[in-house]
Amino acid sequence: MIEQFKQDVDAGLSADNKFLPSQYFYDAIGDDLFQQIMAMPDYYLTRAEFEIFNQKTQELIDSFGIEHDSFFEIIELGPGDGKKTKKLLKKLLKQNYDFIYHPIDISGNVLNQLEESLNDEMPELNTRPKQGLYFDALASLKKSDHKKIVLFLGSNIGNLDDEQAADFLYHLGSNFRHDDILLLGVDLKKSRDIILPAYNDPQGITASFNLNILDRINRELGGNFERNNFSHAPEYLEDKGVANSFLISLAEQSVYIKSLDKTFNFTKGEKIHTEISRKYDEEILQRIIADTDFFLDAKICDSKAYFADYILKRN
Ligand code: AVI
Repeated sequence: MIEQFKQDVDAGLSADNKFLPSQYFYDAIGDDLFQQIMAMPDYYLTRAEFEIFNQKTQELIDSFGIEHDSFFEIIELGPGDGKKTKKLLKKLLKQNYDFIYHPIDISGNVLNQLEESLNDEMPELNTRPKQGLYFDALASLKKSDHKKIVLFLGSNIGNLDDEQAADFLYHLGSNFRHDDILLLGVDLKKSRDIILPAYNDPQGITASFNLNILDRINRELGGNFERNNFSHAPEYLEDKGVANSFLISLAEQSVYIKSLDKTFNFTKGEKIHTEISRKYDEEILQRIIADTDFFLDAKICDSKAYFADYILKRN
C-alpha cells in the first residue's frame, strides 16, 4: 500500500503536468472531511441522490425486475454510511423480498460502523460485509448463482476519467451474469453556478480536503510540503461537463520527500491536478459504455434533475 503511494506520488510530481491521484484524499482525516462536505449546503449531490432513494424507492425496486420467490444479492461498492441504501433495504424488507446485502469497502472501519447501525436499525436484515478491493470482493461473489444488483452510487465513478470509467465498467460487466443489474449514481451536467460552489465552499472544507493530500504525503512519506504555500483551485468546464481540482503553488519552492529521497521543484503558479469530478449526460454515458456489455435500461432523477441513478443491464 505505502509502496504504491510512493510510486504514485513520485510519478505524479515528476510529470510535466503535475498530478496526484484523488484516491489518496481518503485517510482518516480525509474521510472525516468528506463527511463534512456531504453535509454542506452547497454540495447538492448527496441530498439529490438521497431524495431519489427516499422518494422514488418503489421506482428503483420496480426497475430491478426481482421476484418475491427468488433470492438475490445486493452488493454495494463503497457504501459510506449507507444512509441512502438503508431506505431501499427497509422497503425491500417490508415487502418481504428474500435477499442478502454485501457492502464492500477497503476500510474495515467503515464496514464495522455500517454493520453496527444496520444491526440496530434492521436486525432482520441479512448482511455480510466484505473488506477488500472491489474487484477482489466481486470475484469472490461471482461464484454465486443468484441474481446480483450492484450499487455504485454517489457519482464515485466521476472521479475516474472517461477511459478509466470505461475500463472499470468493462471489468465490472465481466463479473456479471446475464440478468444482473448495475445501479449507477451519477451527477448530471449543469450550469457552472450550481456545480462550482459544490467544490469551492466558503467554509473552506473542500480546500482542506484537497490540501490534506499534501499533509498526508508529509505524514506518511516524510515530505515537507508547507500547506500555506498552496491554494485550492477548482474549475468547471461547462461545455465538457468536467470539474477539476488543482493545488496551485503560491511561490517558487522546493519540496523534499524523505522516503523517495527526492526534491520536487514548483514554479509560482504551477498547478498540481488532484481530482476530476465528471458530470454526465446520456451521450457521455453511452460513449463510456460503448465497448462494455452494458446498456442503459432506465434513468431515475431527483426533482431538480441534478442527479440520476441509471439502471444498467447486460446485453
Ligand atoms: C467522492 N466524489 C464523488 C466526490 C466528488 O464530488 O467528486 C469527492 C469530492 N471532491 C470534492 N468534493 C467532493
